[in-house]
Amino acid sequence: MHTIHLKTIHSTNTYAKEHAASFPHGQITCIYADEQTAGRGRQKRSWISPPNVNLYVTFFLQLPINTPQLTSIGQILALSSASCLHKQGLSAQIKWPNDIQLHGKKIGGILCEIDFYPPLANLFLGIGLNVNMEKNLLDQIDQPATSLFVETNKTWDKEKLLQELQTQFEFDLKTFKQKGLAPFHALLNRLLAMKGKTVSLFDGQKTWIGICDSITVNGELCLHLQNGQIKTFASGDISLRAK
Ligand code: BTN
Repeated sequence: MHTIHLKTIHSTNTYAKEHAASFPHGQITCIYADEQTAGRGRQKRSWISPPNVNLYVTFFLQLPINTPQLTSIGQILALSSASCLHKQGLSAQIKWPNDIQLHGKKIGGILCEIDFYPPLANLFLGIGLNVNMEKNLLDQIDQPATSLFVETNKTWDKEKLLQELQTQFEFDLKTFKQKGLAPFHALLNRLLAMKGKTVSLFDGQKTWIGICDSITVNGELCLHLQNGQIKTFASGDISLRAK
């Protein structure tokens, strides 16, 4: 994997978009930074990115636009990250669509940006993983958040973690390219956070309330609505809700 290490950058996703044309063809480019000054999250939120403590990484790759379930590729990176944490003995879960949680708190998130240039799509898959972030900094985040350091009381080697993530993601990507999301379906459901809990989901227009049930083979979320209906969602944001 072609890897670029930056000390300080506005955002690794933005950098990747600005430089994509110069990256080698036919392979993944991985850009990571020690610090981001304008880290971006989903839904135009910012991503708190203090120096030297966490992983701020963007994977750039190109796939044919007709790749089955292409827009679910963020879930693959979330699964690869969760698998790495499982190998370290940590029971990470995935809050649909692609937040990484540990013990009910957010430890990582994925920003998946796609530019379509038929017949190819440029994919910018950004991941932020809170590694050695201390509690006082985590408290600045606007939702319950944690880090590997806080959960395990030890300092982690973030370069080593990155290497493991690169290996796992390359492996999972190979399967995804050949067979789509189907080989990951069972694992996606096993790791689904908030299963059986009442959640609210904002789909961009309306807030829906229901019991978080499962993930379809296409990566959509199934909610069991209060009127008994089962409804599937292709995108949105869920949060736990008191019944
Ligand atoms: C989210 O949960 O809202 C997604 C967060 C994604 C953050 C990462 S950090 C590396 C990459 N560069 C960015 O500006 N954002 C992503």
